[in-house]
Amino acid sequence: MSLIEEKKRLVDRGRLPRHVAIIMDGNGRWAERQNLHRIEGHRKGLEAVKEVVEISKELGIEVLTLYAFSKENWQRPKEEVDQLMELLHDYLLSERDRLLEEGIRLNPIGDLDDLPPRVREALLETARMTSENRDLILNLALSYSGRWEILKGVKRAIEEVREGRLRLQDLTPEVFSGFLSTAGLPDPDLLIRTSGEQRISNFLLWQLAYTELYFTEVLWPEFTKADFLDAILDYQSRERRFGLTSSQLTGNPSGGARS
Ligand code: FPP
Repeated sequence: MSLIEEKKRLVDRGRLPRHVAIIMDGNGRWAERQNLHRIEGHRKGLEAVKEVVEISKELGIEVLTLYAFSKENWQRPKEEVDQLMELLHDYLLSERDRLLEEGIRLNPIGDLDDLPPRVREALLETARMTSENRDLILNLALSYSGRWEILKGVKRAIEEVREGRLRLQDLTPEVFSGFLSTAGLPDPDLLIRTSGEQRISNFLLWQLAYTELYFTEVLWPEFTKADFLDAILDYQSRERRFGLTSSQLTGNPSGGARS
């Protein structure tokens, strides 16, 4: 049996994370270590994206959110930004049929107005074409920033109150979640960040409130299905308490752990 099949068998299908988010980090370092141009790191990183989408679908994960480009990433050298946009454009065109066949819905999140028009058009067209798919929702975060998203949600909420469609006292965390780009989706259960960095980097700041964090030294271009399964198995070994005590969760009064 292959390593992947072995690890897959260890996964408890009844306790899968519904939503996995990933900060795909380390493309540049991978390329530099191989004496390659940074874009080669991103190109290899795209192969890892395809693997992770495939294994998520195979496992039956409902939502996968990938941080592909942050608002801060626009400050990188123009050559790298242009090449990344080209890679994204090609991915959107070449993977469209596969996304359709596999029942994957592509859902872009982020400030799409920042994107070059032809990338935005390809993105919106792929999103439209796959909008009826239900097997896996693939949120692609592009020109995304958590603070930007929260502020945008706050402005929308103020507008709703101003127009009389929402009473201020009815603005609960649940209602506010509906003003974000992940409206209607469960919050991530698991966040994976590769390349040894241990930061959130302005990703899904509101939605990560109770998310389990998993950091690995593996650089994104070398991240495999087996690494993804390791993250899922690690997640399944944890106890999520959402601020309750252990005994409240198990009904066993002797397990008095805090939060
Ligand atoms: C972080 O590595 C990665 C990015 C900024 C881009 C992520 C893009 C991809 C994985 C490929 C494109 C994906 C799609 C879906 C088209 P880094 O460059 O910050 O690495 P470093 O920290 O080692 O420099």
